[in-house]
Amino acid sequence: MITVESVALQYPSLTRVPTAIFDAVTSWGLASLNRRILSQFRQPSGWAGHLVGGIMTLEHAPVTAWMLDLLQPRAGERVLDAGCGSGQALRAMARRMEMGEWAGIDYSATMVAQARRRNRKLIAAGRCRIEQADIAALPFADATFDKISTIETLYFWPDPAAAFAELRRVLKPAGRLAAVLEYTREGNDAAQMELLEQQGGLRVYSQSQVEALFRNAGFVDVKASFVAEKGWLYVEGTRPTATANAR
Ligand SMILES: C[S@@+](CC[C@H](N)C(=O)[O-])C[C@H]1O[C@@H](n2cnc3c(N)ncnc32)[C@H](O)[C@@H]1O
Repeated sequence: MITVESVALQYPSLTRVPTAIFDAVTSWGLASLNRRILSQFRQPSGWAGHLVGGIMTLEHAPVTAWMLDLLQPRAGERVLDAGCGSGQALRAMARRMEMGEWAGIDYSATMVAQARRRNRKLIAAGRCRIEQADIAALPFADATFDKISTIETLYFWPDPAAAFAELRRVLKPAGRLAAVLEYTREGNDAAQMELLEQQGGLRVYSQSQVEALFRNAGFVDVKASFVAEKGWLYVEGTRPTATANAR
């Protein structure tokens, strides 16, 4: 079946379309238009949000495939995708793991609707649950998940420490959290990142800043991978077991 994700994986250059649009709008001096476009990536809403959900699916399918190679969700595991957007990562996980349970959350009602539609068969089969929620207030019991991914979302969190603490709470001991970013201090042009911050209200991090967020929230075995030519950053950390906690 041809899907937006399969097209993105076959033609990776298409995934640079959103950045090209941002560059063009910037070169025309239309800062207010950029602000409006970027606010849709922060919290998609309405018809424009549905369109942006499709663009994000195209843009993020390759980095999601890379993230899944590193995080390696396995059969029988419970996995949460936090800030799931259009639900593209949940569908990609389901393709890799025949058995397992997935959950997604997003604070955008438009994205929750799109993600539920994209994953309707999994939801009907009782293998996937998608809720509208903020990353800093998750509707799950303590120690629910084996693994959590969060793809292209960290830029938007107003209080990263609160969000990391909440993600740690819902992870099982020895469970792993992975954060993936395409825009980083190391991987992109400094002037372009400054514009993104000014016009989109995003926060662009360096690898060491992301690692510090994990460590400060009490994660251990913090590891990073960086693909310089694409600017992709993956950082993961493990929730300590009770014994490690006691040390
Ligand atoms: C750039 S999109 C990435 C979507 C998806 N992870 C993907 O890779 O396609 C950022 C998403 O994070 C969601 N988001 C941002 N801040 C959030 C928060 N505090 N709580 C829940 N969702 C959030 C937005 O609504 C949006 O869908």
